[in-house]
Amino acid sequence: MKRMISSVGAVAMLAWFAAPSTVSAEEAIGNIDNGRAIFQNGKGDNVPACQGCHGVDGNGDDGIGTPRLSYQVDSYILKQLTDFAQDKRTDDTMYQMNDIAKALTPQERKDMAAYVHTLKSPYIGSNLDQLRRDGADVGKPHLGKMIVEYGVPERGIPACKSCHGFHGRSAGRMYPAIGGQNYVYLKHELESWRNGANTSAADIAAGKKEDNARTNDYMGQMRAVAKHMTDEDIKNAAAFLTLARPVTPGNPRSPSHM
Ligand code: HEC
Ligand code: HEC
Repeated sequence: MKRMISSVGAVAMLAWFAAPSTVSAEEAIGNIDNGRAIFQNGKGDNVPACQGCHGVDGNGDDGIGTPRLSYQVDSYILKQLTDFAQDKRTDDTMYQMNDIAKALTPQERKDMAAYVHTLKSPYIGSNLDQLRRDGADVGKPHLGKMIVEYGVPERGIPACKSCHGFHGRSAGRMYPAIGGQNYVYLKHELESWRNGANTSAADIAAGKKEDNARTNDYMGQMRAVAKHMTDEDIKNAAAFLTLARPVTPGNPRSPSHM
């Protein structure tokens, strides 16, 4: 009997370590089963299966520039789908996300966020060697690490860590996970924030914004950061972040909201 109890305890401990951030159906912000159905099969004529572009495991694909959705904060996924639906953000990579988000009901957007949040594939990030072999312009991770950890104060770039958390693993519900995100997508978004910073508030209000100018950040927080980044800074930060693991120094667990 005593042995049984302790082995049950050991199994429970293992489960706790293996799945520290499993979302129960009660905690989810939408219907996980409905989200899964749309992710895998799409909906009607207007919503193709998400996995066709974002991968079965939600890891995205550098070859077509799609982001990793797995490991992302659910409320952040919901905000982006809402912003695409309201044309506050433009998909200027494949020109599909705006129509897709519009074809989802507000409830279905919540369901997508709830399902995507359950995807926990092994955390791998981009294969930078492969990208270099394919001819991509890849930055230097060790230089990017300095930017992520300390910023470049003399040039007005704050440490990414101060908002996005250690290794960009996300912080709270507002700051998305950028660690382990795909390199091609990270680079593209940083360039888009920088283009957005160079678009005036009047032009944004008048709808005169370039496609590749992202302006859907609350209080212009990301535009203020990217404005000061050079092309080299962007490539270096993206190269470090794609390799960064969602850990805390001295603590291998992922944060509970991930
Ligand atoms: C035809 C390919 C395609 C399909 C299908 C697709 N996506 Fe996307 N998705 C993209 C691309 C490309 C981007 C990046 C857009 C950009 O910023 O330029 C993106 C971005 C996103 C983002 C933003 C992620 C972030 O980190 O900000 C979310 C969320 C998302 N897609 C969810 C979905 C969901 C949910 C579905 C299915 C209902 C779906 N996508 C179907 C191509 C696709
Ligand atoms: C002052 C806080 C702040 C700092 C510092 C900051 N960010 Fe952000 N970042 C944000 C916010 C807020 C968002 C989400 C914007 C939105 O709601 O769409 C964001 C979004 C992003 C995204 C888009 C993620 C996605 O999945 O679409 C990238 C990439 C990014 N940040 C990279 C960086 C990098 C690299 C640095 C450091 C050079 C940095 N950020 C520093 C606040 C910050």
